[in-house]
Amino acid sequence: MQDVEGRTPGRPTIAEVSLQALRENCRQAAALVPPGVAVLAVVKADGYGHGAVAAARAFLDGGAAGLGVSMAAEGRELRRAGIDAPIVVLGGAFPGEEAAVVADDLAAAVWTLEGGRALAAAARAAGRTAAVHLKVNTGMTRLGCEVSDARALGEALVAELHLRLDGVFSHFASADAVDTETARAQIARFAGAVEDLATAGIRPRWVHLANSAAVLSQPSAHFTMVRPGIMLYGYPPAADLASRARLQPARWRRGNTPPAALSTPASTRRASTTSASHCASRPARDPISALS
Ligand SMILES: Cc1ncc(COP(=O)(O)O)c(C=O)c1O
Repeated sequence: MQDVEGRTPGRPTIAEVSLQALRENCRQAAALVPPGVAVLAVVKADGYGHGAVAAARAFLDGGAAGLGVSMAAEGRELRRAGIDAPIVVLGGAFPGEEAAVVADDLAAAVWTLEGGRALAAAARAAGRTAAVHLKVNTGMTRLGCEVSDARALGEALVAELHLRLDGVFSHFASADAVDTETARAQIARFAGAVEDLATAGIRPRWVHLANSAAVLSQPSAHFTMVRPGIMLYGYPPAADLASRARLQPARWRRGNTPPAALSTPASTRRASTTSASHCASRPARDPISALS
């Protein structure tokens, strides 16, 4: 055990997280994609409830090249914990957050020229260059520029002296079914946008679309980087994909009786827990059904 801090009074239930399982699941993801294709491990929403910092460290140990988060605040938490790996803010920066994004050396998703220019201005003020990943909407209709605008926006972004266009990406509309006509149409639209950029001489290093389901079942979506989330925590995104990898659920709930370690003084607890790096414990705040 590594961490039993932050327990909620009156709620002695804790969840144990196997760091070994997290590492091994990440190795499995890396083994499912061709050599040279990078794994961006998604640790949004507090590492899917497993503890973002511990999960991020385990995934980096397991071969992840970088980390994906939803919001800048999540990236900041990882930086404050001393994690210096590349971090991509997949949901982009909210207006006003640009200076913090630059200061924390986070790469932000960008899908409007205003958003890109705001980051460029913050980077210029800090005397730095901000990395960005151009997000293209291929069917999720949540965030992203239109496919037909990708080339012009890409050109405008690379023209900004204080921006570096490191990536281009999109997201599947369905998290669990990516071997469908709809998903194949999204892959084709995304490939078209990447091609449009290339015709303008813009070839971002990281081209990414694949979530867990696509890592497991859709090689044509692997490009140069994949972005698995749920499978890294040990859960196949759909029952019919369960046989594609030997995933180990990383979290299980300990009963309502506080384990002996919880009744020992904090100093003893910390000393005895840091020696074993296979497992982290944390309060179980989420519904028990999520753990069963
Ligand atoms: C932009 C983005 N990429 C990747 C993922 C990982 O998806 P999954 O958990 O299905 O692997 C998510 C998760 O919601 C996401 O929002």
